[in-house]
Amino acid sequence: MSNPPHGGILKDLVARDQPISEQLLQESSTLESIILTDRQLCDLELIISGGFSPLEGFLNEKDYNRVVDELRLADGTLWSMPINLDVSQEDVDRHSLKPAQRIALRDPRNDSPIAILTIDDIYRPDKVKEANLVFGDDDVAHPAVKYLHQSVKEFYVGGKVQAIQAPVHYDYVAYRNTPAQIRAYFQKLNWTRVVAFQTRNPMHRAHRELTVRAARSRQANVLINPVVGLTKPGDIDHFTRVRVYEAIIRRYPTGMAALSLLPLAMRMAGPREALWHAIIRKNHGCSHFIIGRDHAGPGKNSAGKDFYGPYDAQHLVEKYKGEIDIEVVPFQQVTYLPDSDEYVPSNEVPAGAKTLDISGTELRRRLRTGAHIPEWFSYPEVVALLRESHPPRSKQGFTVFLTGYHASKKEHIARALQVSLNQQGGRSISLLLGETIRGKLSSELGFSKRERDININRLGFVAAELTKAGAGVIVAPIAPYEEARQQARQEVEKNGGFFLVHVATPLEQCVAWDRDGVYERAKKGEITGFTGIDDPYETPKKAELVVDPSTESVAQIVRHIILLLDQQGYFGDV
Ligand code: ADX
Repeated sequence: MSNPPHGGILKDLVARDQPISEQLLQESSTLESIILTDRQLCDLELIISGGFSPLEGFLNEKDYNRVVDELRLADGTLWSMPINLDVSQEDVDRHSLKPAQRIALRDPRNDSPIAILTIDDIYRPDKVKEANLVFGDDDVAHPAVKYLHQSVKEFYVGGKVQAIQAPVHYDYVAYRNTPAQIRAYFQKLNWTRVVAFQTRNPMHRAHRELTVRAARSRQANVLINPVVGLTKPGDIDHFTRVRVYEAIIRRYPTGMAALSLLPLAMRMAGPREALWHAIIRKNHGCSHFIIGRDHAGPGKNSAGKDFYGPYDAQHLVEKYKGEIDIEVVPFQQVTYLPDSDEYVPSNEVPAGAKTLDISGTELRRRLRTGAHIPEWFSYPEVVALLRESHPPRSKQGFTVFLTGYHASKKEHIARALQVSLNQQGGRSISLLLGETIRGKLSSELGFSKRERDININRLGFVAAELTKAGAGVIVAPIAPYEEARQQARQEVEKNGGFFLVHVATPLEQCVAWDRDGVYERAKKGEITGFTGIDDPYETPKKAELVVDPSTESVAQIVRHIILLLDQQGYFGDV
């Protein structure tokens, strides 16, 4: 069987500037709906734009099996990545899904129908086989294998789609193009040879040198084509990255390079992914595609070894080059030579020459601490953009969470700490005392375990949001339950530092210090559910600091907290 060339006949099922298909839109309102996952939405966007040509829908069982086994669709066309609409048993039952049925596929963000799928078949994949053959391993240290086992539902629905409208985007719209738009752009500029550069990371000098070298060697223009769909968990967000690409493109000779964003959901499948990437770029009208070291690499497996060899991706794509009709531009690791102030691929490094490199981990460390990032590594404007979204600890927010009995003096400590932090300056300080939260946020709540948990949950949410905005937050609730405190920690730690301070004043001392006589009333039974009397206080399992105001002054305790924050870099260099 002959294999149709990719991108030869571009099936651009919907152009972004085409009007909505009114007829299909109307039909969709009469159909059962599947709300897409974020990944399915990315896949569908590229199916209907023609980026995944020759796919016209989600894989049916025959196509899926052959893609998994042989990197080919059932008709023999080369295609390396299974693209599936996964659904649960509950979805199948609730919508009575069956072959020939038409279903609406909806955008999870706004519920709009993107396409109608006519069901070909519904089948249960062998996920272990898929993991081993597609990703080369069934190890959940691989992000796509983890996703396959933990998030992908148990059935796949195959079938062609008819597009209603492209998903709407609100960010960087000017840089988003369908393959047809990109091809028309190349035509307009008379770019006949275009080398595409795939990336999911910020670009630095090495990448500029790599792409310019590729362009020079092939007498081509450059399409910087970064992924803005889904990348490897933990990657730098695409908002920051696009600002970096905008900055770096000005470092190219005028008219040499263009920037277009790709709404791809990466799988980090190394060699298979590289082949998939090449096909996608062919569909976008590119004649060349750069594959460097460890292309789309997922990192290390659970035994600490790389999932793929650094050049496996180049070798696999090379094997199929006759079929994909896009020329691969392979690169060895590009490194810096300080003596000649240039970047060269490792196979061109003169024997004995000194080389320099800054790894991704080292770069993140320097961003975190504010340490110097040299100009040989990146451009000052790129570093400035990265620092803006990754401020050092001294500019990040934090929450100090004081927990302890009523009248333990945690409020005294909180107020004294507030004053002390205001004296330090540098960030706005928010004080959320237990009574403030009870009055302002949780006035309808009582003191059952459930209500106390809700109260701490709200407090954690507010503290996390303020921390994200860079504030220093001091909270001082009783917070008697371990689980609720840990949840608050988790929320805040997404955005900044969290310091649990257990104010461990002995209960007798709290009773003695309690000038309102609340403990006395609780003991007499006039108040019930009072922490320490007839309600529990779970001692924190993990506290950054345990303090006792009956043995130390408030001033000393505040000093301990300030020193702890300083040690962690919240006031300056670590
Ligand atoms: S990827 O997951 O998209 O491959 P990344 O954005 O880091 O990750 O890399 C994009 C492309 O640039 C890949 O082809 C990769 O191999 C190549 N690349 C990145 N850095 C280097 C380097 N220093 N030397 C050679 N190739 C590189």
